[in-house]
Amino acid sequence: MPPISLATRTEPTYGEAMTQPLISQPQRLLIIDFGSQVTQLIARRLRELSVYCEIHPYQSVTDAFLKDFAPKAVILSGGPDSVTREGSPRAPEGLWTAGIPVLGICYGQQTMMQQLGGLVESGHGTAEFGRAFVTRKGPDLEILDGWFQAGDEQVWMSHGDHVSKIAPGFEVYGTSPNAPFAITADPARRFYAVQFHPEVHHTPKGAKLYENFVRLAGFTGDWTMAGYREEAIAKIRAQVGDKQVICGLSGGVDSSVAAILIHEAIGDQLTCVFVDHGLLRKNEAAEVVKMFRDNYKIKLIAADESDLFLNALEGISDPEVKRKTIGRLFIEVFQKYANQIEGAEFLAQGTLYPDVIESVSFSGGPSVTIKSHHNVGGLPEKMGLKLVEPLRELFKDEVRALGRELGLPASFIGRHPFPGPGLAIRCPGEITREKLAILREADAVYIDQIRKHGLYDEIWQAFAAILPMKTVGVMGDGRTYDYAVSIRAVTSVDGMTADTYPFTHDFLGETMTRIINEVKGVNRVFYDLTSKPPGTIELE
Ligand code: XMP
Repeated sequence: MPPISLATRTEPTYGEAMTQPLISQPQRLLIIDFGSQVTQLIARRLRELSVYCEIHPYQSVTDAFLKDFAPKAVILSGGPDSVTREGSPRAPEGLWTAGIPVLGICYGQQTMMQQLGGLVESGHGTAEFGRAFVTRKGPDLEILDGWFQAGDEQVWMSHGDHVSKIAPGFEVYGTSPNAPFAITADPARRFYAVQFHPEVHHTPKGAKLYENFVRLAGFTGDWTMAGYREEAIAKIRAQVGDKQVICGLSGGVDSSVAAILIHEAIGDQLTCVFVDHGLLRKNEAAEVVKMFRDNYKIKLIAADESDLFLNALEGISDPEVKRKTIGRLFIEVFQKYANQIEGAEFLAQGTLYPDVIESVSFSGGPSVTIKSHHNVGGLPEKMGLKLVEPLRELFKDEVRALGRELGLPASFIGRHPFPGPGLAIRCPGEITREKLAILREADAVYIDQIRKHGLYDEIWQAFAAILPMKTVGVMGDGRTYDYAVSIRAVTSVDGMTADTYPFTHDFLGETMTRIINEVKGVNRVFYDLTSKPPGTIELE
């Protein structure tokens, strides 16, 4: 489940201790980061190929660094700057004589051309943003294996500047209407330069290009989640030193994996805080506390703050006010417990990569706020805690793989996401203790049904919600006037879009009967048929 994030987004931080390779993986690739929004996606593509890579900011990649790091290949990322600006970022000069393959992307391509004797110009109406088509030119090129089999290739462009003269030794292998040097290369030196972004999904053959590049660089694909674990532990130790870390545990997969990983790195320097905000599911608080105390011997403060939250939520119906109230109180509660932990300097979070990219659009502008998502409130500067986010480069499926690697039970890893604001956003309208009690029971019956029918793992997320209305019914010989609940189940890859799960009519009928029979206070059940879009997964 997504973590309850307490902080606003921050750019990745690169501590001083991280200017060296973190582990002794012999086959490693270096990504020099010039600040593109999608640099992390390059790492994602490479990891899919089981290639070990590290992203380092251009500022720290000196010639000496390059020599120590000894990469088998280097990728130069895109970036927002203009190589025509004096003082703009450059790759270290030693890169060009290191004898290793280099792939330059967008800004990386431009600095490569400039540094090797070509020319880059700004403007002149040649900026290109979005989809473009590249036409093949020139002789065979290994990095383009599998490309251009059916004519022009779709790619994703995002550049203001363009190369106007290629560097000596380079040839053109692909052109687009606004980028005559869309693909250039000097195969003898194994230097490749593309104007587009092969790491984004909008460049459908992008993954193949990376595969070709790492193959020609001699990578054998020996990188595993066990390796990531080792790397993450080294990073956590380097970042935290002998300081104390406090971790907000939500009971979901992400914050749990983060906590267990951090615990493995620094042991008792970690204290977890699990806040029961009164908006958890049936038995959830007890189960989470038991798992962490019994199985992992992690220092854990279990704080029952349900009265604080539920009192504050009294009378509030507006979804954003609910979310913000919960977020604000979380910060306050956290501050209270963080203050009790002597020397706490870091706050750990299970922030995932999608949480990071969701907050900023590809073009660099802030995305429209649909909901005050994930960052329920924002961590006030005054709290003065630095963030430890060991999962911020991972995607959901990778966190699950890491969880398996760390020995978390399969049933726990496969749990459906549960949002930070909890049942509050499954109780549209005013939240009352009575409604929450009914909702907990209805949800438990519904999930039990799904499990009994062996459907749990086919569904991304399933839950009941209690609707802000009562309806009339007849049970036995009497009239009832009770709450209606809705049940929802969706399939999804990443929670960004979702389809309704196609239950059979029999299943739905049986579930309706069970909920009404087993849960006092409910006399009507709706099945929510809405996909996302137009709906969101949660009701609020
Ligand atoms: P929506 O409702 O926006 O949700 O379609 C997409 C996914 O995100 C989860 N979600 C949240 N997770 N804090 C979280 O940690 C939140 O505030 C939050 N709101 C929604 C939701 O359960 C679904 O998996």
